[in-house]
Amino acid sequence: MTHASGASPEKTLSQAIKERRATPSFLPDAVPENDLKKILEAGLSAPSAYNLQPWRFLVVRNAEQRARLRQAAMKQPKVEEAPVVVVACADLEGWRNGDLDEIIRLAQQHGYGDEARYASMRKNIAGFFGSTPGTAAGLAPDFAVWANRQTMIAFTTMMWMAEVLGYDTAPMEGFYEDQIKATLGIPSQVRVVALLAIGHRKGEDKRFAGRFAMQHTVFAENWGTRFL
Ligand SMILES: Cc1cc2nc3c(=O)[nH]c(=O)nc-3n(C[C@H](O)[C@H](O)[C@H](O)COP(=O)(O)O)c2cc1C
Repeated sequence: MTHASGASPEKTLSQAIKERRATPSFLPDAVPENDLKKILEAGLSAPSAYNLQPWRFLVVRNAEQRARLRQAAMKQPKVEEAPVVVVACADLEGWRNGDLDEIIRLAQQHGYGDEARYASMRKNIAGFFGSTPGTAAGLAPDFAVWANRQTMIAFTTMMWMAEVLGYDTAPMEGFYEDQIKATLGIPSQVRVVALLAIGHRKGEDKRFAGRFAMQHTVFAENWGTRFL
């Protein structure tokens, strides 16, 4: 049994982490707007470098649109089954198209910093993105990697909030980006990062497939020195 939305108490984060599986199949039951807003707001609360928030999210609920999206997502049935699919995107040009001004306006509104700080934010961010990738400055990121990194934090935060609220989720990278962009009218400077299906699972959950032991993945102080 999955939790009914709204009615049942929220899961703890520990419980959600323990119980979450990548859901193979969904029931058609809708996700109420209020819960969906909570999930989206959680994602938008995520941290990002310089607070630049390059993420953009496209919420797909319309049945015909989900059917079209499924075609672009390697025909994965869950894209059409789940009542909500959130398409996580990253706008590589947002910072120069107004977002930098907006984060400074927000910082002012929240009493964060002073004029000197805003000036240094402008200078640092323009410098960070302005320097040529791969040059001695060495700071400029690969924009797609940079924006993907930020967006996946927001994406994952949404996934956990959905799970805490009692929903089941399925993250997906199995899609053709050009087809998703054409289907949803996504502009060229925006990359599609991942899809998140949200709803209630149909049937049994997948079995837990196991994880690497800590000895394999966690080191202490120096690479190769066991943590445990
Ligand atoms: C970024 C990302 C992309 C994924 N893409 C797909 C996908 O396109 N289709 C799919 O069936 N599962 C996909 N998965 C699910 C993984 O296969 C699954 O998380 C993994 O096997 C571990 O299983 P669990 O999440 O149930 O523990 C994806 C997971 C992540 C995190």
